[in-house]
Amino acid sequence: MAKPQKRYVCQACGSVASRWSGQCGDCAEWNTLVQEAGAVATPFQARHNLQGGGQLVMLTQLDAPAVLPERRTSGIAELDRALGGGFVEGSATLIGGDPGIGKSTLLLQAAARMALAGSSVAYISGEEAADQVRLRAQRLGLGHAPVQLAAATSVRDILTTLSSGPPPELVVIDSIQTMHSDLIEGAPGTVSQVRASAQELIRFAKERGSAVVLVGHVTKDGTIAGPRVLEHMVDTVLAFEGERSHQYRILRANKNRFGGTDEIGVFAMETGGLTEVANPSALFLTNREEGVTGATVFPALEGTRPVLVEIQALVVRLASGATPRRSVVGWDSGRLAMVLAVLEARCGLSFSSCEVYLNVAGGYRVQDPAADLAVAAALVSGLSERPVPADAVAFGEIALSGEIRPVAHAALRLKEAGKLGFERAMLPTGVAGAKNEGGAMRLTEFRTLARFVDHLLGR
Ligand code: TYD
Ligand code: MG
Repeated sequence: MAKPQKRYVCQACGSVASRWSGQCGDCAEWNTLVQEAGAVATPFQARHNLQGGGQLVMLTQLDAPAVLPERRTSGIAELDRALGGGFVEGSATLIGGDPGIGKSTLLLQAAARMALAGSSVAYISGEEAADQVRLRAQRLGLGHAPVQLAAATSVRDILTTLSSGPPPELVVIDSIQTMHSDLIEGAPGTVSQVRASAQELIRFAKERGSAVVLVGHVTKDGTIAGPRVLEHMVDTVLAFEGERSHQYRILRANKNRFGGTDEIGVFAMETGGLTEVANPSALFLTNREEGVTGATVFPALEGTRPVLVEIQALVVRLASGATPRRSVVGWDSGRLAMVLAVLEARCGLSFSSCEVYLNVAGGYRVQDPAADLAVAAALVSGLSERPVPADAVAFGEIALSGEIRPVAHAALRLKEAGKLGFERAMLPTGVAGAKNEGGAMRLTEFRTLARFVDHLLGR
């Protein structure tokens, strides 16, 4: 407990001192300092003290029965999966992504499907004219869907309109960066405007029970405020990822107050809009050739869903003593440095005079720690120019000690690899459940990275 502090208050001017003195330091009166017990309410505290004068908040028990919020399916299974089962009523969802990645397309498709299924849906576009949205809907074959459409940017106008009738079940705001609140100074897209507009729209969602979806552009140069400023305000944050030059897109939940954040939705952008990809492994593994060095297939896991991806490494020996480059696409560069260091320190392989390029095929971004072993296999294969068998997959986490650590969900990974025609798997020793579920797959288990490298090099 803190020691109660002694306070000396000048009886002439009210200033507070921590020790007694004969003369007040503030008003210079003599013999006015008197010791007082407890806190003294200065005029400032009296105005800013929040410990009284309010209404009582009802406190309830944590174990009281909870009411599950109602969910509305979007009609797109992959979107529902990322959301954890559909849009939650009275919630705010933010969908972020690079311009042109397909956010408007996805939401227009979801809006149209929900409207066709009988929900009331409003689509507010601040970026495109109503006719542009209409044309896009027609191109997508959804022109007949009963979606309420508006092109508007004033939050006051939008909320006045939405409040004038029964609240729509889904409201799409495309995009939050074009919205303008007249309560705040500044151009649309500035941090204060984005925040104020979002706050009003979220308040509408909570009060009226609509599911509000905000589109947020992410820009590298930061000229407009990105979705980051909104992440703590909304209930769910989805990121729409992918390379513009590639066909497919991944919808990832980064935050979800109503569900998990480990499920992803996979889509392919085609001429008729976004199509759902129920079996992503087949998509990421197209055009595999026999006997290519530096390529390994990794059975990644996204939530409960296995996705097979190809990891490619190119190792180029440098003649001169120039600093070699390390370049990574689709994986963590710090993690690559670690795997290279363990290969050097524990397995006697030298990459110090080699440039290393690592790529996850097809623009996929791997976050699963079990990728270490597949990356090591690709690197060793690239360095030694011995191909990894084309019918093999590899997964496992590498420790700094050079040990290969078991990873979760080995059975799921093996099952998916088996389904796609792989016959061999290289994995850590002692993975739970691997034996039973492997089925017809031939399993080779490794305890250390050194043993694994020996195996790859045929030693
Ligand atoms: P869009 O949804 O406008 O992106 P965002 O709202 O994230 O900025 O998507 C635009 C891109 O998608 C555009 O470059 C063209 C492509 N696209 C297709 O390939 N097929 C389609 O059917 C549609 C509607 C768009
Ligand atoms: Mg758009």
